[in-house]
Amino acid sequence: MKTLKYYFAKAKKEKWAIGQFNFSDWSQVRGILAAAQNLKSPVILGTSEGESKFVGLQEAVAMRNVLRKKTGLPIFLNLDHGKSFEYVKEAMDTGYDMVHFDGSKLPLEENIKISKKVVAYAKRKGIVVEGEVGRIGTDASKLYTEKFQIKEEDLTQVKDAELYVKKTGVDVLAVSVGTFHGMDVTGVSPNLRMDRLREIKNKIELPLVLHGGSGTPDQDIKEAIKLGICKININTETRLAFSNTLRKKLEIDKDEIVPYKYLPEAIEACRQVVEKYIKLFTNKG
Ligand code: G3H
Ligand code: ZN
Repeated sequence: MKTLKYYFAKAKKEKWAIGQFNFSDWSQVRGILAAAQNLKSPVILGTSEGESKFVGLQEAVAMRNVLRKKTGLPIFLNLDHGKSFEYVKEAMDTGYDMVHFDGSKLPLEENIKISKKVVAYAKRKGIVVEGEVGRIGTDASKLYTEKFQIKEEDLTQVKDAELYVKKTGVDVLAVSVGTFHGMDVTGVSPNLRMDRLREIKNKIELPLVLHGGSGTPDQDIKEAIKLGICKININTETRLAFSNTLRKKLEIDKDEIVPYKYLPEAIEACRQVVEKYIKLFTNKG
């Protein structure tokens, strides 16, 4: 199987993006996997600190191993938004393919200091490191009743990003260019700041990462990919599809208590969201 670094280089060269889909439950993984299998696509399974603590780091790694073996697909595992060196190290020691150290809320110097440590440790194991500069707002999985508007000071500052990349040696960089974690109630969040993304791309060679992908209009995603975005993270939209479908199913079939009978529709709803996004990210639409 080709490495994740290979896929990042390929995506950058050919202008498409790898989808990262987060999960906290095996049923969600089944939905993500079905989409990747249908489209024969590489995929990154993501777990935040919270998600990985619920699933278990070892269990997540074991799951990835089995699925890789069974499907032959390039399936990778990323620790998403790791907040401390210690936890990121634990994920690396357990066998994650990639770690995202999120020091974006720290002063830049501190973010650089810890990121450097992560990179030094990851290099020995060939693990991909995602760094982050700029603040991506709000909470994943919430539905906002007002349109989100990013504050100018939360956008990635080009100079900060340049310094960070030069000093840390991260492999890929998450940028704050107007998307946010969660979705607004309309389901569409056209907030991407292409001007800032273009400025970043002109100065930084690395593959760039877009967080808060849920609800971003197709056209914005396509344009962002042209401007150097090589990985896009989706969480809220799959959570929403999965949970709402499950809720409806249980409301209708009030007496059903067998999980393998009431879960398939929620898995299918998750698959549909993931498939839609993989097609969009890889220009297969
Ligand atoms: O790191 C995960 C993501 O950035 C997901 O964001 O929940 O808005 O899709 P989202
Ligand atoms: Zn994120």
